Amino acid sequence: MKIAVLVSGGGTNLQAIIDAVASGKITNTEIALVISNKESAFALERAKNAGIEGKYISPKQFADKEEYSKAMIDTIKGAGCDLVVLAGFLVVLPASFVSAFENKIINIHPSLIPSFCGDGFYGLKVHEAALARGVKVTGATVHYVDAGTDTGPIIGQKAVYIEDGDTPEILQKRVMEQAEWIILPKAIDDIANGRI
Ligand code: GAR
Repeated sequence: MKIAVLVSGGGTNLQAIIDAVASGKITNTEIALVISNKESAFALERAKNAGIEGKYISPKQFADKEEYSKAMIDTIKGAGCDLVVLAGFLVVLPASFVSAFENKIINIHPSLIPSFCGDGFYGLKVHEAALARGVKVTGATVHYVDAGTDTGPIIGQKAVYIEDGDTPEILQKRVMEQAEWIILPKAIDDIANGRI
């Protein structure tokens, strides 16, 4: 299976996928392409270091969302990818993109969906909201992407305890280490090996 990984930032989830492919935790999978909507994203550096093709494609480069969508579809289909992995990708993808890859896009979200998800809940904001609400358990979710925001079928979840003194940054790191970097590679391996 060939995958395209879409990123916007630091790319620690991308790194977890790269490492899992290298160590054999993910099998039958080649990371064919990494696409970032931010030119300066460290994730592109991680792709380069791993010898993976990295591309910068941003909605800003196109007249409208449909032109952007078409360029993304052409690039990903042109690379022969069977699965699109959103790994910290913060652009809301147009409906035309989602329907071009029906049941072939997965996303990692840093909470236990349906808590703290949907429009406006991304990155540190998710952890700020969890701490503000005072929940004692949070976590991460891998799910298929459908036309809504964080509404698609859930593939996997892992819970993470909140601890006294947590800041959004500390909590974000714990959720990544204890949940995201585990369940995202596992979901890819499960899909690549026909277990989903
Ligand atoms: C991760 O915590 C990911 O779950 C989150 O952004 C971070 C990206 O980190 N994604 C979302 O909030 C999507 N709604 P990374 O670039 O180091 O992988």
